[in-house]
Amino acid sequence: MADLDDVQETRNYYTDIPQRSEPFFLKGSNALDWGMQNRLSRIFNPKSGKTVMLAFDHGYFQGPTTGLERIDINILPLVPYADTLMLTRGILRSNIPPSANNSIVLRASGGPSILKELSNEEVAVSIEDSIRLNVSAMAVQVFIGGENEKQSVINMTKLVDQGTRYGIPTLAVTAVGKEMTRDAKYFRLATRMCAELGAHYIKTYYVEKDFDTVTSCCPVPIVIAGGKKLPELDALKMAYNAIQQGAAGVDMGRNIFQSEAPVAMIQAVRAVVHENETPEKALDLYNTIKNSK
Ligand code: 5RP
Repeated sequence: MADLDDVQETRNYYTDIPQRSEPFFLKGSNALDWGMQNRLSRIFNPKSGKTVMLAFDHGYFQGPTTGLERIDINILPLVPYADTLMLTRGILRSNIPPSANNSIVLRASGGPSILKELSNEEVAVSIEDSIRLNVSAMAVQVFIGGENEKQSVINMTKLVDQGTRYGIPTLAVTAVGKEMTRDAKYFRLATRMCAELGAHYIKTYYVEKDFDTVTSCCPVPIVIAGGKKLPELDALKMAYNAIQQGAAGVDMGRNIFQSEAPVAMIQAVRAVVHENETPEKALDLYNTIKNSK
């Protein structure tokens, strides 16, 4: 029984202070349910509004990619520096300690290998398994203009519907085939379509010209993929320019895990994303950490 001795009568109801009611910090996400916002807050840092996602899901269509041959050796040292890990359930279960406190964005589409038509994907994870793995979002490839455009869009809307039932956001990844143009006009189309059809945030590529028009007319947050390996300073410049032009973070793979010093590189990327550090100063940080080993 509760202790009823000495119950105090004086209470302060603060009748003169209206209850706090703060808008959610992420663009276009105010109307989402609590669980959805809570999961997005595990991906995007509420202080900076940004995220450093470490992408190492490449094996789901191309096998043991350079730099990902051994996840335990190549990737585990980077985990403490990533806000979010983007990976497949196979790698999550086999290599990532459940005690790791990172948010998880689960690769939820798949099917074809690099030997086949890549746009021929389907949803490849059940919502039950996503829940079981306690993921913060599910990621799906969307091939706008690709051979299986409609199928990939429907994969996305299916995940949005399933995830909405349980408060799990969907990340739409705008895929570019070899034959597709990579320009702002294309990415405005692809990102806006994904957002209109329900994706909670979108991953796309940075383009030199007019990237700010891609972020400005997309109603939900955009993160950029790193793309092919660049010299470290160029990769940091790309991340910096994307952030300055409205991106809410990076989902970077090869430019981190294929770097000469991946642990130094991810920390330099963090400085650019979360602290608005210039690429040159972030490169100094990269060199300092690299040379301190
Ligand atoms: C694969 C992906 C990758 O996660 C993505 O391309 C990020 O990796 P990188 O920075 O190496 O491009 O979505 O389809």
